[in-house]
Amino acid sequence: MDTLRFITCGSVDDGKSTLIGRLLFESKAIFDDQLAALVKDSAQYGTQGTQMDLALLVDGLQAEREQGITIDVAYRFFTTDERRFVVADTPGHEQYTRNMATGASTASLAVILIDARKGVLVQTRRHSRIVAMMGIQHVVLAVNKMDLVGFDEATLDAIVADYRSFASSLGFASLQVIPLSGLTGDNVLMPSSSMPWYSGPTLLQYLNTVDTRSTQPQGSFRMPVQWVNRPNLDFRGFCGRVASGTLHPGDAVRVLPSGVQTRIKAVLLGFDEVAVAEAGDAVTVTLVDEVDASRGDVLVAAEVPPEVADQFEAKLLWMSEHALAPGRQYLMKQACKEITATITDIKYRVDVNSGAHLAAKVLGLNEIAVVNMSTSAPLVFEPYAVNRTLGGFILIDKLTFETVGAGMIDFALRRANNIHWQALELNKATRAAQKHQTPRCIWFTGLSGSGKSTIANLLDKRLYAEGRHTYVLDGDNVRHGLNRNLGFTEADRVENIRRVAEVARLMVDAGLVVLVSFISPFAAERAMARSLFGPEEFVEVFVDTPIEECERRDVKGLYAKARKGELKNFTGIDSPYEAPSQADVHLQTAMLTLDQCVDQLMASLP
Ligand code: ADX
Repeated sequence: MDTLRFITCGSVDDGKSTLIGRLLFESKAIFDDQLAALVKDSAQYGTQGTQMDLALLVDGLQAEREQGITIDVAYRFFTTDERRFVVADTPGHEQYTRNMATGASTASLAVILIDARKGVLVQTRRHSRIVAMMGIQHVVLAVNKMDLVGFDEATLDAIVADYRSFASSLGFASLQVIPLSGLTGDNVLMPSSSMPWYSGPTLLQYLNTVDTRSTQPQGSFRMPVQWVNRPNLDFRGFCGRVASGTLHPGDAVRVLPSGVQTRIKAVLLGFDEVAVAEAGDAVTVTLVDEVDASRGDVLVAAEVPPEVADQFEAKLLWMSEHALAPGRQYLMKQACKEITATITDIKYRVDVNSGAHLAAKVLGLNEIAVVNMSTSAPLVFEPYAVNRTLGGFILIDKLTFETVGAGMIDFALRRANNIHWQALELNKATRAAQKHQTPRCIWFTGLSGSGKSTIANLLDKRLYAEGRHTYVLDGDNVRHGLNRNLGFTEADRVENIRRVAEVARLMVDAGLVVLVSFISPFAAERAMARSLFGPEEFVEVFVDTPIEECERRDVKGLYAKARKGELKNFTGIDSPYEAPSQADVHLQTAMLTLDQCVDQLMASLP
């Protein structure tokens, strides 16, 4: 018996939960104890008077019962004589697009619900676009609540015309329209006597028979290594789920990204050696040769390896309230790999209604875009359209661990392959030796007016007097040249810090002691800057002056302007300053003279 995985999506109140509840109820997928609980819950929370409220069967969470919305993705299982079903009930609330994307990544069909009274909404379009982007080819347009529009055929026709004109560009392989009512059950399992004009299948008839098998050729063998099982010296098994293709003992394989070639010795499913394993199987594989492979590497068919690259074009769905900033580092999870990734460019944002390509500097919650991105190391991948496992990824905020984006790789950027690091004969060590010093980046962070530049300037003079070769990169100065096209939005500050950090790295490579004096308000970018240097090379100095004191001094008159609202995004006023928690040097300026600050610095330089 085959399994159909599908998702349901739509706006809040489209009646998804009621519809799935009815599918489960009428296909007898409910156990007696669930039924007893349902009768009890219906009385307590139900919205259907003395009737059973089928939505409660699906709205498993207390919170959503109370608010009357569905807030988390929930998988339901039911079986008919024809098929097994796994359904992800994905929420319709604007904020929960994340769950819908999660559900969509494994489904082959989407039931898109429309409230017959409301027709096609922005949310319908957004979800349809995400469904298409996630590679779902088959769509059921379930026009629900037909009972509330008097089972009127013309109402349905208008909605369908509207939807078809929107969806024609999304390239679905099939689109089946079914007018129904989750509440009364019309056209859910049994044909409706109230809609004699409709001669198509009921929802369940359709789900029972629809063919969603991909017309794409089966991919070649790929298996991301999840972990290496090494119980003793004689056994080394590579465990993972086969992402595509088949494998047999004796097959020639490669380990990517290293490219080492070997053969499969044995394939184990559970404890049993098998002659073949296929996509979806969780297996342990042993290899003929002692080759190195670890979590995140990919075993692939030797003759048809996938690509390896570190720059890509991808589609991205942003799922966080906190906007995406190009240049910021995120944690990227793809298959079993975790890697640092940056969005280098937002090529365009997609208008969910019209599909138009719009210019964008940042991406907000639920926005969809095509981006260029780069990873900190080469990634084994395939385009999402070819292989969802090796082409799909999520982005995670490094500080909060919140999942902030879901993406699909389209292709590698060729330019990345054509650039090679040029090895130079004179290097950092020779240049440092010539200057008789240890190159360093001393990074000052603190509020505007905290005294960063004053202290950096004094330290610079001290170091200079000692014969050190130094340079000061000051925010105000660098913003006159290299960074003059940047303002003070979060996105611009991220780019501001990225550029100055890269310049500081070059200067350290040239053998200099570089003093960077930038507000650098965000912990993520300071961590990024640190990551560019060796452990002893980067010294973070927190110039800790209370904002009241900075504002009292107000040397440039900027605080006054900001308070009057004449200056937007001012750090400490309407733009955040994330104070460092683990600075290498913490200067509490209120308690120290300038000279004492510099003494403390000189004493703590490694
Ligand atoms: S950062 O946040 O991107 O690191 P940077 O150090 O380059 O800032 O520039 C800060 C300087 O720009 C401040 O010292 C101040 O003189 C000036 N400035 C102008 N507008 C702002 C603003 N909105 N917020 C902070 N500083 C500003």
